[in-house]
Amino acid sequence: MRGAEKGYRIDDPELDQVLAYPSGDHKHLECVRRDLKSAGIDMIMAFGRIRIGCFSVLGKGCVGIVCLGSMRRGQVAVKVRRTDADRPDMLNEARMHAYANSVSVGPRLLWQTESALVMDYVNGLPIKEWLDTPYAQTSGRVMDMVSDLLDQCYRLDASGLDHGELSNSKRHALVEEGGKAVIIDFESASASRRVRNVVAMTGYLFCRGSLENAMRRHFDWDALRLRRCLKEYKESRSARGYIDIRETIGLGRSQL
Ligand SMILES: Nc1ncnc2c1ncn2[C@@H]1O[C@H](COP(=O)(O)OP(=O)(O)O)[C@@H](O)[C@H]1O
Ligand SMILES: [Mg+2]
Repeated sequence: MRGAEKGYRIDDPELDQVLAYPSGDHKHLECVRRDLKSAGIDMIMAFGRIRIGCFSVLGKGCVGIVCLGSMRRGQVAVKVRRTDADRPDMLNEARMHAYANSVSVGPRLLWQTESALVMDYVNGLPIKEWLDTPYAQTSGRVMDMVSDLLDQCYRLDASGLDHGELSNSKRHALVEEGGKAVIIDFESASASRRVRNVVAMTGYLFCRGSLENAMRRHFDWDALRLRRCLKEYKESRSARGYIDIRETIGLGRSQL
């Protein structure tokens, strides 16, 4: 899957900058090391597109640093709380993430601690980049990916969990080479807010400049009718409303 990326044992001082980003706080470091050991993480691999100093990681957000870890079951993604995150621990995110998993959404959450979450590693690209890959050059494949992604959003809506950040899905969905989309990052999710996952994702894909043009290559839809359907669904959040959205963009029966 990947080249021979270098692995670092949890106690290796090279990891200090990653595990206690950005302040290097010693208490935080101790806590993260203890938590990662309790989770069974053996090593952190220097791998990914993002640099923390000279260390490569999978990603960096405002809550966490995500790196590739290895444990007995194989490679996993490890999201470590940043020292400057606006929350004391990762436990609420873990609850929301597990909630999403219960309707088969999100990478499987494997372990949760106060300072870090361990989940399946998603070897994927943001939607826009995936659309440029050789696999995504036929409309059937793009439509399958979008169909499944919207179904995931509908399952979240039906379950009452609002992801909260899907209107900018550039950072919140990764698509694997074979077209499987995975929604990530449940740090802003809530089970007590009005859900708008389908509306936000449909808006991101079909109603705003950056992806709309790419989608036009594969879908044919009437923008006014889609807006009307979205407005109706926003009120009803009904299965019928969801089917109307799908039909408007030319998707057939859902896999739900
Ligand atoms: N399970 C995962 N597999 C692969 N990469 C991931 C995974 N989870 C997160 N990432 C990468 O890390 C980045 C930051 O993660 P995210 O959960 O969005 O952090 P934050 O809550 O701080 O915004 C993501 O944009 C993505 O590139
Ligand atoms: Mg984020």
